[in-house]
Amino acid sequence: MAESNEFHRVTVPEIRARKGNQPIVCLTCYHAHTARLLDNYVDIMLVGDTLGMVIHGMETTLGVTLDLMILHAKAVMRGARRSLVVVDMPFGSYEESPEVAFRSAARVMQETGCSAVKLEGGTRMSQTIRHLTQRGIPVMGHVGMTPQMVQIYGGFKTQGRTMEEWPAIEADAKAVSEAGAFAVVLEAMAEPLAARITQEVPIPTIGIGASPDCDGQILVLEDMLGLNPKPPVFVREYAHLTAEIETAVKNYAADVRSRRFPGKENVYSIKKEPKAG
Ligand code: KIV
Repeated sequence: MAESNEFHRVTVPEIRARKGNQPIVCLTCYHAHTARLLDNYVDIMLVGDTLGMVIHGMETTLGVTLDLMILHAKAVMRGARRSLVVVDMPFGSYEESPEVAFRSAARVMQETGCSAVKLEGGTRMSQTIRHLTQRGIPVMGHVGMTPQMVQIYGGFKTQGRTMEEWPAIEADAKAVSEAGAFAVVLEAMAEPLAARITQEVPIPTIGIGASPDCDGQILVLEDMLGLNPKPPVFVREYAHLTAEIETAVKNYAADVRSRRFPGKENVYSIKKEPKAG
């Protein structure tokens, strides 16, 4: 079948084949305008449920709904032409049963046009991952610190800091891989554990607070742009937009108050009347 536009969109098998090769570049994305900007530089854009915290000011991701994910995913799809877009399944939309997960994930795929979904959980979600992948829905797994379990952890707690915790987390990553996931996010875990899991599983690992040895890396866009007042230690800030936005807004307010804005170049003049006769 002919491709419907001039851009080649990165595919799930292409990402799967990057295991142990060139690192996979991923960022979260929630808007059409940032999707347009990121599209030339990243392999995967994740419409993550962190949007609840980053964009909507929630304290955790638990309040994010399927409708909210779909709204933002549609915006991202309008801006992303070549990156693979993965959409997070929010809390409550998939855990109940593989059938419920299929209905939610099918809605996400049909209404947004994204290429894959991501869901949290290892061994406990392996049956669901198998159910989805066998029915045409590519799944990215997510193990280690899974933010939707925040109330069980009692906070956003780094995983695998003691070696007794390792076997369960390794088993989670293997279960996700064996169930058919095409990649797995390793979040907030001890570095040697993430490096070890990367060696152990045949699918790409995407690290966030994990290890430079992972097959790819992901950060929350707003964190790396310096928009989070308290970024986690694993964030490297590549810009300091909070300070820049504040300066811009302060200057605008001063210009309006002193009538320096709008200037002549910002207003419409009247059209010249054609000369009569
Ligand atoms: O929702 C999200 O942003 C994520 C990333 C942190 C991996 O799941």
